[in-house]
Formats: sequence, structure tokens, C-alpha cells
Amino acid sequence: MTSPTLFLANADATHRLGVQLGQTLPPGTTLLLQGELGAGKTTLVQGIGAGLGIGDRIVSPTFTLINEYDEGRIPLYHLDLYRLDSSEVQGLQPQLYWEGWEVEPGLMVVEWAERLRELPDSYLTLHLLYRDEARQVQVSGTPDLCAVWTRLTADF
Ligand SMILES: Nc1ncnc2c1ncn2[C@@H]1O[C@H](COP(=O)(O)OP(=O)(O)OP(=O)(O)O)[C@@H](O)[C@H]1O
Ligand SMILES: [Mg+2]
Repeated sequence: MTSPTLFLANADATHRLGVQLGQTLPPGTTLLLQGELGAGKTTLVQGIGAGLGIGDRIVSPTFTLINEYDEGRIPLYHLDLYRLDSSEVQGLQPQLYWEGWEVEPGLMVVEWAERLRELPDSYLTLHLLYRDEARQVQVSGTPDLCAVWTRLTADF
């Protein structure tokens, strides 16, 4: 299922979209972020952190696979596949992180998600595209989360 696209005029708009996502997405959500270098993925995750009520500054994980933030409405798990080699990405299923482990279901956000080989049963994909100095988001995903997206962006 594909929903309409959204125009993000500047980095503040990307951040505000992230805030809405952070305020709205239900626990157990896998959010897949796609887009070239500098497309605005981390900016969006920083907005999500603010929307969840996380005070820490969010930066992409470098020394760990996943950065966890537990102080918000639901836990945020931030994964960035950019620096992983293909053997590390092979078979990776981020949505399994909270299944069978002592990990509370939260919001799993994956940068460079185009590198994943397998898609979860439920996910929302936001593909950030350059539009001159601005960005556009193309949305796809499973119907459950596309419905959430439609509601949360109705008056964006
Ligand atoms: N809608 C937008 N319009 C214009 N600039 C934006 C927009 N959203 C984010 N930016 C800017 O794009 C730059 C890169 O953003 P960011 O680091 O979030 O990208 P990224 O996709 O995470 O990059 P990387 O692939 O290196 O991880 C930042 O300077 C940010 O302010
Ligand atoms: Mg980034």
C-alpha cells in the first residue's frame, strides 16, 4: 500500500514530522528510513526522540548496533545500517529485537533500511528524496501503519 507523498520544505519540517511520529506511533512499530546521504533521516529521528519525550541528543549509533533510549513514552531503538558490512546485514531482522528477549516493545527506527533483505510483517517505510533544497517523503508499508500515517499527517 502506498500513501500520498509529503513535502518537507526545510529541516524544521522534517523535525516536526518526527515529533508527530514520536507522539503517535504505537509500541512494536518498525519504521524503515530510506534515502541518500544527507536526506534527513537522522533529523527525523531527532524529532521522533523529541516527540517521545527523550531529553538526550540523538546521534546515529557508531560503536553499538542499536542505541536505546528508555525515558520516553515508549522505548526508542535506533539502528543505522550504513556502516555495517553485508555479512552483518545478512539475515538481520530488527523487529525481532524485542521478541524472546527482556526488551520492551517500542519504536524501532532503521536508517539505511534499503539494505535489509527481509521485511517485517508490519512496518512503515519513509523514503526521503531530495527536491532541490527541500525534501519529499514517499510512504509505503503495511495497511495497519499506513492507516496511522494517514491520520497523523492529515493536518500536517
Ligand atoms: N526537509 C529538509 N529540507 C532541507 N534540508 C533538510 C531537510 N531535512 C533535513 N535537512 C538537512 O539535511 C542535512 C542532513 O540531514 P541528516 O543528517 O538528518 O541526514 P541523514 O539522512 O541522516 O544522512 P546520513 O545518510 O549521512 O545519515 C542536515 O543539515 C539537515 O538539517
Ligand atoms: Mg543519518
